[in-house]
Amino acid sequence: MKSTNYTINQKTINCLFGVSVNEINAFASKENSIIITDEILYSLHATKWEGCRIIQIPSGEQHKIQSTVDHIINQLLNWQVNKDNFIIGIGGGVVTDIAGYVASVYKRGIKLGLVPTTILGMTDAAIGGKNGVNVALVKNMVGTIYQPDFILFDFSFLKTLPEQEWISGFAEIIKHACIKDEAMLTLLEHHTLEEFQNNDNMISDLIEKNVDIKFSIVAADEKENADRRLLNFGHTIGHAVENLCELPHGNAVSIGIIAACHLSEKINGFLSSDTKRIADLLNKYHLPTSIDVNHKKVFELLQSDKKREGASIHFVLLNKIGDAATKLLDINMVENNLKEIL
Ligand SMILES: NC(=O)c1ccc[n+]([C@@H]2O[C@H](COP(=O)([O-])OP(=O)(O)OC[C@H]3O[C@@H](n4cnc5c(N)ncnc54)[C@H](O)[C@@H]3O)[C@@H](O)[C@H]2O)c1
Repeated sequence: MKSTNYTINQKTINCLFGVSVNEINAFASKENSIIITDEILYSLHATKWEGCRIIQIPSGEQHKIQSTVDHIINQLLNWQVNKDNFIIGIGGGVVTDIAGYVASVYKRGIKLGLVPTTILGMTDAAIGGKNGVNVALVKNMVGTIYQPDFILFDFSFLKTLPEQEWISGFAEIIKHACIKDEAMLTLLEHHTLEEFQNNDNMISDLIEKNVDIKFSIVAADEKENADRRLLNFGHTIGHAVENLCELPHGNAVSIGIIAACHLSEKINGFLSSDTKRIADLLNKYHLPTSIDVNHKKVFELLQSDKKREGASIHFVLLNKIGDAATKLLDINMVENNLKEIL
């Protein structure tokens, strides 16, 4: 086991790597804890947290909504849960976003532990304190920023993670490498997804590296006024094609990363050989780098992006691999520059 403390706005978050969720009693007593998980995780792993009070929610993004939160809060009230109790979210980003939101609003904030169980959850969603639910078709429209007391990384959950969830999670890992860590990009080039899936030490080291990258960005800018925006690399075009083509999130981000690389070439002097290097890496990890999509519709969607400011949009570009910056760009100019590839 390895324990690392991170501090965000004076709150210390204890990250426990390589700890079995069976041992959660050492961090939050079973009598005092209420576990929130989804039905898939429950059916696969419930024996790991016997003896706890459990609230199961349906699996899937379509259940990341206020009525699920209301259902959980009613159960907490029935059990007379108070501020000394822990909410523990065990699951992918949907569960940890909901658990974080509930913990932040129930009695104006109770203790929170997170146990991410997907690659995306371990490297991204469980870190940084953002939480929330979707409203109508708008993702993460309502939520808070609320840091957990601890995050426990039990890598044994990954044994049951479906292949597509591995692939999607690696899009965010490659994103981190592009914006902050060329050495990690080189490491990924030297290995394959299958090697990471079959080697516990390799995957735990890689996850720790990504946790470190995300925490260092969030610690400098919890409220997303500056550097935290870099985490949106690949997500502007990514979200548009995700909505239009109903792609898995990671596949859409992968296409968005390549679009952002092309724009970086045009505007920032980013090397085309580095765009090719990143595209080859994404393909190596089974991620797509192009798509047949209605160009006009992509840019119509960009007009309603929350990063838009008048006729411009905040867009994350690369100067070189491992070095990114946000620029306010005219949307028509972005559209003209991406005509050849979208
Ligand atoms: N808060 C943040 O900073 C942040 C950052 C990125 C993404 N997110 C959010 O995260 C969500 C996506 O998270 P996700 O990709 O983890 O998806 P998810 O939570 O929907 O999980 C994907 C699927 O995998 C299943 N699953 C989870 N762990 C499993 C395991 N170990 N074995 C077998 N099945 C398992 C789930 O039941 C679900 O069906 C989105 O709602 C997104 O908005 C939040």
